[in-house]
Amino acid sequence: MKAIVYTKYGPPEVAQLMEVPKPIPKDNELLIKIYSSTVNRTDSGFRSAEYFISRFWSGLLRPKYKILGCEFAGIIEEIGKGVTTFQKGDKVFGYNDKTFGGHGEYLTIAESEAVTNIPDNISFDEAAALTEGAHYALVDIRAAKIEPGQNVLVYGATGAIGSAAVQLLKHFGATITAVCNTKNVELVKSLGADIVIDYQTQDFTKTENKFQFIFDAVGKSSFGQCKPLLTEKGIYISTELGKNGENILFALTTPLWGGKKLLFPIPTITKKDVIFLKELVQKGEYKPLIDRKYTLEQIVDAYKYVETGQKTGSVVIKIVQ
Ligand SMILES: NC(=O)c1ccc[n+]([C@@H]2O[C@H](COP(=O)([O-])OP(=O)(O)OC[C@H]3O[C@@H](n4cnc5c(N)ncnc54)[C@H](OP(=O)(O)O)[C@@H]3O)[C@@H](O)[C@H]2O)c1
Repeated sequence: MKAIVYTKYGPPEVAQLMEVPKPIPKDNELLIKIYSSTVNRTDSGFRSAEYFISRFWSGLLRPKYKILGCEFAGIIEEIGKGVTTFQKGDKVFGYNDKTFGGHGEYLTIAESEAVTNIPDNISFDEAAALTEGAHYALVDIRAAKIEPGQNVLVYGATGAIGSAAVQLLKHFGATITAVCNTKNVELVKSLGADIVIDYQTQDFTKTENKFQFIFDAVGKSSFGQCKPLLTEKGIYISTELGKNGENILFALTTPLWGGKKLLFPIPTITKKDVIFLKELVQKGEYKPLIDRKYTLEQIVDAYKYVETGQKTGSVVIKIVQ
């Protein structure tokens, strides 16, 4: 089968199209023919190993799992003889940041992992883009224990994480102030933001409002900058480590002081989470934003675009046209 293989960490060019053996499902696994995948910041992070810490999961000297692609959507071609919850021919989507494999024509995954059926109201491309940004957003929103009516600010509301966060916060009943670029103001309103601050014409730190939760979905602000906007026991979460890794230090210390605090939740995803996201899609409460689409052959260009830090939502890789 065709797949994008990387045998060493580095720039987008280390990802190369090759012929590799088709995987064989174990007794508890599904063999999925991939129709669509994405290139996202998780794939980029593991490929570049820019943060050395990622190598503790992916291999210290070189990658253990050589085909990236944590998001996937496709059709089950074969099931292991112990599989009971899926059938051959089922359309499925999911997330796999343990062994990856979405950047190839086939992958195998245990039926118990974060994989479920694609809802009828979306395409393979949309299904592929459902989980990466949304599961980071979900983990952070849950950590902040958001209640209906609470005031939340989402900084960077148009990325994969930010655009999912706005829609999920709407589902949880928050009142959302979103910060984005002039060109995306209407888009962000359509996702559910109640107030939109255009960072090109307004300084969000000058707002008069106070927030129970500030979620920096693109890691461009700091706890110090946002602290005056938090309520007395307000919570700040960023998707980045901050200057000199300060967010790790604040996550260890600020919860001890009892006032405004910074949290740094460890991302996780389970089958229950993908089912939750699927049900939101079915109810029309969540739809991933899709920016550009590329083919497997164009993967280097896809990575380069993702790494501009300017994508709107997700970048899809179409494997079956
Ligand atoms: N290391 C990892 O494994 C990993 C994994 C996932 C995510 N992350 C981190 O999580 C963050 C978000 O990821 P993502 O995939 O959601 O991001 P993304 O999709 O790449 O975010 C792009 C969006 O960020 C907005 N943006 C760029 N600069 C901005 C600024 N100065 N102020 C406000 N908005 C700005 C842009 O919107 P406008 O056009 O409105 O400016 C663009 O739509 C990234 O920092 C990423 O590194 C890391």
